[in-house]
Amino acid sequence: MKNFDVYPLFNIEPVKAQGAWLWDKEGNKYLDLYGGHAVISIGHTHPHYVKKITDQLNKIGFYSNSILISLQTELADKLGKLSGYNNYDLFLCNSGAEANENALKLASFHTGRKKIISFTKSFHGRTSLAVAVTDGASMQAPVNKTDNAIMLPFNDEAALEKALDHEIAAVIIEGMQGVGGVKIPTTSFLKKIKSLCEKFGAVFIMDEVQSGYGRSGKFFAHQHSDVKADLITVAKGMGNGFPIAGVLISPKFKAVHGMLGTTFGGNHLACAAGIAVLDVIKDENLLKHSEEMGNYLMNAFKKIAGVKEVRGYGLMIGVELEIPCADIRNALLKDYKIFTGSSSDKNTIRILPALNLKKEDADIFLDAFNKVLSKTLVK
Ligand SMILES: Cc1ncc(COP(=O)(O)O)c(C=O)c1O
Repeated sequence: MKNFDVYPLFNIEPVKAQGAWLWDKEGNKYLDLYGGHAVISIGHTHPHYVKKITDQLNKIGFYSNSILISLQTELADKLGKLSGYNNYDLFLCNSGAEANENALKLASFHTGRKKIISFTKSFHGRTSLAVAVTDGASMQAPVNKTDNAIMLPFNDEAALEKALDHEIAAVIIEGMQGVGGVKIPTTSFLKKIKSLCEKFGAVFIMDEVQSGYGRSGKFFAHQHSDVKADLITVAKGMGNGFPIAGVLISPKFKAVHGMLGTTFGGNHLACAAGIAVLDVIKDENLLKHSEEMGNYLMNAFKKIAGVKEVRGYGLMIGVELEIPCADIRNALLKDYKIFTGSSSDKNTIRILPALNLKKEDADIFLDAFNKVLSKTLVK
């Protein structure tokens, strides 16, 4: 058997990782400004994380959701305190798409309605309803296409006013669009979603799968706009690489036995990973660090010739170039051994490093970025 060939691959195999660095079989060292696609939050193989998971594996790794798992309670408690959503409930699952699928389902259960509003350039995952509300026709199989998904222009308040009525179950939006090229919803747009959802009894879902967990310098990106959502989905940075995801659920939703469920969600190992991540975010003050390092990088990008626009908060940064970024990213990887991210906008590089990125590592990257970009512009 061979693997189903759905991913375009770099011909590199990291076999070891630490902090913001990766090593391949030949001992070559790579700087990770991509965080394995915004997943690495507290740095590769953080000692507290490795110890927590190893200790847990030596005790009990898994049992089903039919028994008490006090690690789930500890995780929910720590997440509530750190995120400021202490009075919300937590449903644990395994991936970002699954978190969004469950949030959309909850919204439909709660309202008895079917229609969902989402926005252009959004990405919410690849399961049936998550992909139906994603702006990506090539990812949608015929079975995913549904009249229940309504796609509106991003940040367009007039279009939202026109479309949101008593038939809408939910509005789903990313805290900051990731795949779309780090596009930020305006505060006024988020407040409009909030007020219209309240007016028409629809559910406001914030997808913080990529922009959450401290990446933006606040626990959630939407907290920069001081709005509260009814449901918030999390994944990626939540487990620093261990598959774990969740839905934060407002007290207005009533849990009914059997309405949601999963075999693996909230298992002992996943919770140990999730708790370790929250411990490190708190103990190492990573929200503040992410904000400071993000500002440092963004100010530096703005001074570089060839950079058209810099978008983001904290360590989720979109650097839009005046030229397509594929050659720049390839040169960074080939000549300087630095991983960066792409986006659906061909000119925008995504920077998504671990939240404890050191200044000296950021400087190595900035120096290489400067050199690659100036060399390419001179050609
Ligand atoms: C904003 C957002 N939502 C959902 C997802 C889907 O997450 P997963 O790949 O874990 O299913 C992603 C993944 O990139 C994402 O960026």
